[in-house]
Amino acid sequence: MDLKYIGHSAFEIKLENQSIMIDPFTKHNEKYNWHESNITDILLTHAHGDHLGEAIEIAKEKDATITAIVELAKYCEEQGCKVRPVNFGGWINFDWGRVVFVPAYHTSSLPDGRYGGMAAGIIVDTQNVRMYHAGDTALTSEMKTIKELYRPNIAMLPIGGTYTMDVEHAAVAAHWIGAQTVIPMHYNTMPEIQADIQRFMSLVQVNNSNCVVLDPNKV
Ligand code: NI
Ligand code: MN
Repeated sequence: MDLKYIGHSAFEIKLENQSIMIDPFTKHNEKYNWHESNITDILLTHAHGDHLGEAIEIAKEKDATITAIVELAKYCEEQGCKVRPVNFGGWINFDWGRVVFVPAYHTSSLPDGRYGGMAAGIIVDTQNVRMYHAGDTALTSEMKTIKELYRPNIAMLPIGGTYTMDVEHAAVAAHWIGAQTVIPMHYNTMPEIQADIQRFMSLVQVNNSNCVVLDPNKV
């Protein structure tokens, strides 16, 4: 498995013959070209434009399935996409692994202004690696139960502040979640989400996690 960071909150999980995308907002990265990947599934944490990104376009061209909370899935279906509507709590099986949606402390609205359902984080299990993509979220004590219930190996956490946790709170989240590897996301892509990455790295290291800063320019 190869985990590629496209920037902002977008990731491509590359498996042998297919790719899974999370929150495919990729336009800001000139070096990334989703047309080159065999994308079979798109997972969306919530409906905001910087997470929905190019999901509709990608799903249509690739005949990929969008898996999202029911309100957002319904919207994607209305746009002509294949969807898998889900909600919180249960494992959802795929031929490449399984996922579970967990609540995020955030809002969610569709491009047309309608309510987009609750915002989510996503636990992804594939090839013996368990990832927790936190989506956009504030710090919440429920993250302690992420550790207890799921024990993820990798945690992708927003650190930019304003709309999500900032560096300090994300470091607390990293401690509570207890993943061996922490990947910061959702920072430095807009003026209001500038983050001190060095400070985040040093705060996370205190808690014995390994902070891996992925460079979106090396996709
Ligand atoms: Ni958002
Ligand atoms: Mn966002």
